[in-house]
Amino acid sequence: MSNVYKVAVLGAGKRGTLHAKTHYENKRFELVGLCDLDTERLAAAAAVCGNPPLYTDAAKMLGETKPDIFVFATQPALRLPLIKLGVEHGVKLISYEKPMATNFAEAQAIMDVCRAAGVKTVVSHQQKYGEHHQSVLKLVQSGGLGDIKTIYAHCWGWYFHLVTHLIDYIRMYNNNAEALWVSGAVSGRGKLFDNHPSPDYAGGFIQFANGVRGIIETGENAPDVPEMEYNWHKGRFMIQGKDGFAEVFIGEGWRAVTKNGVFSGGGKFDYTHDQACYVDEIADWLDGKCVHSCNGESAFKGFEIAMALLRSAVERKIITLPLGPGENEVEALRNVLT
Ligand SMILES: NC(=O)c1ccc[n+]([C@@H]2O[C@H](COP(=O)([O-])OP(=O)(O)OC[C@H]3O[C@@H](n4cnc5c(N)ncnc54)[C@H](O)[C@@H]3O)[C@@H](O)[C@H]2O)c1
Repeated sequence: MSNVYKVAVLGAGKRGTLHAKTHYENKRFELVGLCDLDTERLAAAAAVCGNPPLYTDAAKMLGETKPDIFVFATQPALRLPLIKLGVEHGVKLISYEKPMATNFAEAQAIMDVCRAAGVKTVVSHQQKYGEHHQSVLKLVQSGGLGDIKTIYAHCWGWYFHLVTHLIDYIRMYNNNAEALWVSGAVSGRGKLFDNHPSPDYAGGFIQFANGVRGIIETGENAPDVPEMEYNWHKGRFMIQGKDGFAEVFIGEGWRAVTKNGVFSGGGKFDYTHDQACYVDEIADWLDGKCVHSCNGESAFKGFEIAMALLRSAVERKIITLPLGPGENEVEALRNVLT
């Protein structure tokens, strides 16, 4: 008989509701509690996930329901206290939203707490399950592009919204190679006090140990992707290898030129599909069948690169990895950006 894991979800916003609904619809989980401070949101979310026990207090929910898995989907400002709460209540796995923190010191503290307690973590970089990403990943892994040289990813969404998605998938296409150093540039304070506080524009280079060069751009000066109408879908990945090129559009579709010809295909950004894969893999990981594709250690590597790029921009120099202690990256941007 396969295991059924008890799940408690905090956050009944757009993302938390989807997390709760997806666990509820998967027979490998039992949704034992749902929590939000906003009771109207709570009632609306409960209606689409089988009316689980409802809470407005996270500690009470975790204490009463004793879940195996704690999922939380809150704005970026709230991460470490909920991680600590989950760990204190003895959960096996914490699944939470990107970005994993708002600065490197917080991300480091999250990892320290979870590693010390042996608690697994998963961060929602679930777009990788899209058929467009998976098709190009197969092409890369089968050697269809030859040795990879450059991976360029850009999007109109601003830094703390999307950069960790971009870097996570660059790392995926690059076989999770270690990064050696980064060089970043930033501009504009318009979004510095947003709930995803970011420079209006950021661009940067990432040098990986296997020789691959990553390039990222986010925000208002990043290139348009006229093929996509929706602003949040205006982004793409370009992967250049010795023997070919491939392009993945964040919104939908992919195309490639290889020694064997010209190819293209479908697959799109689909919250329901991607979330179902992400959630199912949580049970696989707890069953010991795999390590989750969105595991926290990998997310941390990506977040470290993202914060190193900001430090590079602030300090106007190349930053080598691993990243050491330093000033809160967003505070530093607020001090230097004009
Ligand atoms: N992975 C993705 O593709 C993706 C897509 C969109 C957003 N996100 C991320 O998801 C996160 C959440 O986004 P959202 O749009 O669902 O946010 P939201 O603000 O709509 O929802 C958050 C909910 O958490 C509740 N909450 C906050 N503190 C609480 C507490 N202490 N106890 C109980 N409830 C509490 C709020 O009342 C709110 O209902 C963000 O970090 C965002 O970047 C990820």
